[in-house]
Amino acid sequence: MNHSVDPEYSSVNQKSNKDFLSIDLLSDLSIDLLSQLKEGGFLSLKDVIIEGPLELSTRCGISMDDSNFIYNQTITFLEDIGVIDMRFTPATTLYDKRKRIGRISTGSQNFNKLLGGGIETNAITEVYGEFGTGKTQLCHTACVMVQLSYSQGGLDGGALYIDTENTFRPERIETISKARHQNPKQILDNIVVARAYSSSHQELILSESSRIIESQNIKLLIFDSAISLYRSEFLGLSSLSLRQQRLNKLIHSIMRIAQTHQIAVLLTNQVQSSPETGFANLSFKAAGGNIFAHSSTYRIYLRKSNRNRIARMVDSPNHPESETVFSIGESGITDPQKE
Ligand code: GTP
Ligand code: MG
Repeated sequence: MNHSVDPEYSSVNQKSNKDFLSIDLLSDLSIDLLSQLKEGGFLSLKDVIIEGPLELSTRCGISMDDSNFIYNQTITFLEDIGVIDMRFTPATTLYDKRKRIGRISTGSQNFNKLLGGGIETNAITEVYGEFGTGKTQLCHTACVMVQLSYSQGGLDGGALYIDTENTFRPERIETISKARHQNPKQILDNIVVARAYSSSHQELILSESSRIIESQNIKLLIFDSAISLYRSEFLGLSSLSLRQQRLNKLIHSIMRIAQTHQIAVLLTNQVQSSPETGFANLSFKAAGGNIFAHSSTYRIYLRKSNRNRIARMVDSPNHPESETVFSIGESGITDPQKE
């Protein structure tokens, strides 16, 4: 696998990608309408699904009626070719599909068990905790693990790392790769890093990420951290509602990207004190309010425990609340050494 980053990346080279589903496939649309969509930046059918009808209407200058029609046409097309689930699907079909869902090893068997096998594709896994609890270390380790073969706990794909805190360290990737007997150069070649400088820059990066995901065979999208820029920019009660609106849009775009491209999303979150929490040992809750709480598929709380770390599954549609112990070492996230 060789997916080195092409800084000159343009919409021209993704047309040769076999997974690229051109907007031209919507054969019922007039040539004029198709060119309006392209001028608005909608080149692929996946763009239509990820951005949604409102964005389609605004960016292309078309009516909401036209936009909803195009959106539904696109969904029907993608259902027909099996990119997304049919709108009426037997639960047994969904169950068979879930048994085959891709999972990325965290590097620790304990942690994998907590997640039911690893970081799941088509879903958002959110980890939150105080400083130094291992959120960034988990992100670095997952960048290496996703590249391994399926039998080794990977998905044979690359990682896209959106770094909002300037804490991505290629030298840490090198150490983890060597400790896991991987070629560091090859591993680094398959990680695309985007440094986000502001919340709107982060949104711009996200809106451009579909191109990279398809052309670089990305199987893992990382946000470290997802909301820190919003917290630093939207200060005070008066801007809270605008911040939540922007976060709402962000998290829904992320979810649509996860499901349309069938990739895993790992995002880190900060904590805020929570005097009202019910658990004696959970004195913090994740930042971002209800919007994040309802939108992440899996929420995991990390905390320190002497030299080890504890991961607690706080919210999941299919796991009980439980916790496990892991450790941070030369090879990144790992199981604690037996004494
Ligand atoms: P914030 O981003 O500050 O909220 O913290 P975080 O949760 O992202 O913490 P991070 O993942 O950066 O974890 C930092 C901890 O990882 C440090 O306290 C170290 O214990 C450990 N660590 C970082 N680098 C290495 C390393 O190269 N080797 C080992 N063994 N441990 C490391
Ligand atoms: Mg960090």
